[in-house]
Amino acid sequence: MTGANPGKETMRLEGKTAIVTGAAKGIGLVYAERFAKEGARVVVADVDETAGRAAAKSLAASGDAVFVRTDVADAGSVEACAAAAVEHYGSIDVLVNNAALYGDWDMRDQSFEYLKRVFEVNQHGVWLMTRAVAPKMAEQGSGRIINQASGAAFNYASPPSPDGEFHGLSSFSYSQTKFGVVGLTKFSAAQLGRFGITVNCIAPGVVDTEATRKAVPGELLEKLADEQPIRGVIQPEDLTGAAVFFASDEARFVTGQILVVSGGRHMP
Ligand SMILES: NC(=O)c1ccc[n+]([C@@H]2O[C@H](COP(=O)([O-])OP(=O)(O)OC[C@H]3O[C@@H](n4cnc5c(N)ncnc54)[C@H](O)[C@@H]3O)[C@@H](O)[C@H]2O)c1
Repeated sequence: MTGANPGKETMRLEGKTAIVTGAAKGIGLVYAERFAKEGARVVVADVDETAGRAAAKSLAASGDAVFVRTDVADAGSVEACAAAAVEHYGSIDVLVNNAALYGDWDMRDQSFEYLKRVFEVNQHGVWLMTRAVAPKMAEQGSGRIINQASGAAFNYASPPSPDGEFHGLSSFSYSQTKFGVVGLTKFSAAQLGRFGITVNCIAPGVVDTEATRKAVPGELLEKLADEQPIRGVIQPEDLTGAAVFFASDEARFVTGQILVVSGGRHMP
């Protein structure tokens, strides 16, 4: 990948404990790598046990990391993750709510049951994780929560009907959940600010990950990148500066904000 890897880490997160959900691969892993380079101790929280263990092992080579198998849609699993982080590192300073049904999302399933499942992971998972870490952060008098939304939250263009006929209302649940994450960011920022906890949100455009490559053919990815005011394919590394800023002490008065990183594709 050839993104803007800053290579100028200045240990801005030294001694902080960061839980990154969905850090087994893709953007979450790149966030975790950057956080480790900035001196954070990273909890890799993911349902994918094989990739999650491998991620924590590779992170441990340059920093301190541990894998905790976590299903963000399961309240018990989420509480256990927060408890494991405290047991292991003694604090929870940063939470990145990055996990989502994105790469594993089945676009063909338009049932109500599946819509509820996507909401459970992508939106309620953010709420559950936030609820789980908030008491420890409040006790510490400080905390940073970073939610991963998507430019899709601001772009409701639905996939066209393949034959032009009406086939019922499609669930198009991914965008809805990400719009919910934007709302949840503001809701929790307002509630938790009094306790020294900031809650902010990153909304990426189309980012070059394996998950995206599965869903979007290469030439379409290039075409989309070419349409942006700032041309070029966005790499996961291009998001890490925003995450480090929100996680850092410098952002202590920044809360409830949505930072769109999409080369100007979305200007909400
Ligand atoms: N790649 C993009 O173009 C893009 C654009 C905008 C937003 N996003 C968002 O960025 C995040 C990461 O995207 P990605 O491209 O790396 O996707 P990805 O599918 O590669 O990564 C998602 C990770 O979340 C994990 N996960 C899924 N369900 C989980 C659950 N219930 N509990 C815990 N972990 C779970 C997966 O195992 C995986 O490791 C997602 O929130 C996605 O919606 C991605």
